[in-house]
Amino acid sequence: MATALATLMSKPAVPLAPHRTPAYRLERLEQALGPGSPRLFIKRDDLLPFALGGNKVRKLQLLAADAQRAGATALITCGAVQSNHARVTAATGAVLGLRVVLVLDGDAPDPPVGNYHHDLLFGADVRVVPTREARDEAMAAAAEEIRREGGRPYVIPVGGSTPLGAMGVARAVPELSADGIRPDVIVHASSSAGTQAGLTAGCALFGLKTRVLGISADLPAADLKQTVETLIDRMAEALGTTAANLTGPHGIDVDDTQVGGGYGVPTGAATEATTLLARSAGILLDPVYTSKAMAGLIARIRSGEFTPDHTVLFWHTGGLVG
Ligand SMILES: Cc1ncc(COP(=O)(O)O)c(C=O)c1O
Repeated sequence: MATALATLMSKPAVPLAPHRTPAYRLERLEQALGPGSPRLFIKRDDLLPFALGGNKVRKLQLLAADAQRAGATALITCGAVQSNHARVTAATGAVLGLRVVLVLDGDAPDPPVGNYHHDLLFGADVRVVPTREARDEAMAAAAEEIRREGGRPYVIPVGGSTPLGAMGVARAVPELSADGIRPDVIVHASSSAGTQAGLTAGCALFGLKTRVLGISADLPAADLKQTVETLIDRMAEALGTTAANLTGPHGIDVDDTQVGGGYGVPTGAATEATTLLARSAGILLDPVYTSKAMAGLIARIRSGEFTPDHTVLFWHTGGLVG
């Protein structure tokens, strides 16, 4: 384990987020949820001070360093038209002086708004495709085009959810210990699995016995769990340890009860969660990911799953730009 930890910490990073983000208690939310509420904390990765923040900054720090090591001249990635990952990738390319090609599915807003607007502002070459399924082919075509022009493309899979991207998230875990917070449970929004794989492995590697619960924004629980497991297997290989050592005592826990009508489709529970957090803590949630994750946490508190003796931390992964 010591070697795996040393390997994790030795990975080069571009310091996009050199300082730790705030984490603190949500006492008024606890009061609003009644006497059965656990101690509730929040980790504000929505406040990461690069390109309007969010969990993708953690991943891009290591991915960007790897792109530099590989001598890349261009970054290529994909996502939905309002992808937070695309926005942070565009800004990362701007900082490193790399060309960025973004393959985005959906309808481009006219005039450009939200993440899509920022993608253009950061100077990315944006290519819109009609469906998720069309993304891979468009990325391969962009890579081929860059090679033909004598450049060297570095392709980042959706969400930056590679073993290296997940390691960027794992390296955030000791920030909690530095703030004296040892949660029994971390709850967060989950989709392309890198955040969940990273937090799970980070807790195991840094000796926290924390259970990590991912609330799915889109995928069925079994599919997302499988993707997290595959990523953890690949991280274990890269860090010279076993998947069991990175998974810890609680296994991979995914809740898909908040997906509702699907990716980006609002639900009543998510709207209620957004209102509750806004009015008790002055903190905003996004409609696609974090509001559904908070709705999942609130539903579990109301069902009596946690007691006042539990410490539960909500990892705010950002997304407000979308
Ligand atoms: C704001 C926000 N929260 C959570 C997630 C989920 O993270 P991951 O894709 O690593 O599962 C994403 C991206 O998909 C996101 O943009």
